[in-house]
Amino acid sequence: MAILPIRIYPDPVLLHEAKEVADINGDLQYFIDDMAATMYHAPGLGLAANQVGDLRRVIVFDVAQRDGSPELRVMLNPRIIACEGEIIHNEGCLSIPDYTAEVKRCKKICVAGFDREGKPLEIEAEGLLAVVLQHEIDHLNGKLFIDRISRLKRGIYLRKLKKQAAER
Ligand code: NI
Repeated sequence: MAILPIRIYPDPVLLHEAKEVADINGDLQYFIDDMAATMYHAPGLGLAANQVGDLRRVIVFDVAQRDGSPELRVMLNPRIIACEGEIIHNEGCLSIPDYTAEVKRCKKICVAGFDREGKPLEIEAEGLLAVVLQHEIDHLNGKLFIDRISRLKRGIYLRKLKKQAAER
């Protein structure tokens, strides 16, 4: 297993829509293991393939690691098929270091996709897991959590980023 370099905003690969996984053989299983190793190493609660420069619709996530009992979960081609209620959560992203902001999401969702062996998988999620899934699925659609905050807040963040880049 390898720790893959995490792409940092504004890397263009983060703004691209990923493509459906069609082949679960080939290098996919190795790639999933590398994604998991990268997520745990960061550490992060979830990781989408775009974040390591790959445009396949693959996400890995694990909210159970917070209680010290990690349980890796993998989903291919995930899509949200139901959404209920509202939750506001302070989000961060491995691709957007040193910044967090409150984001409004669905409180409960149902996600359909496939497991790493290509078997159909449905996950009903609530609270933090629902937030993580929506955040990672956004990545696959080329969307970041800063796209979901107010224009004012995003402007402040982008100016800070420019200033940091200029100081480097
Ligand atoms: Ni992220």
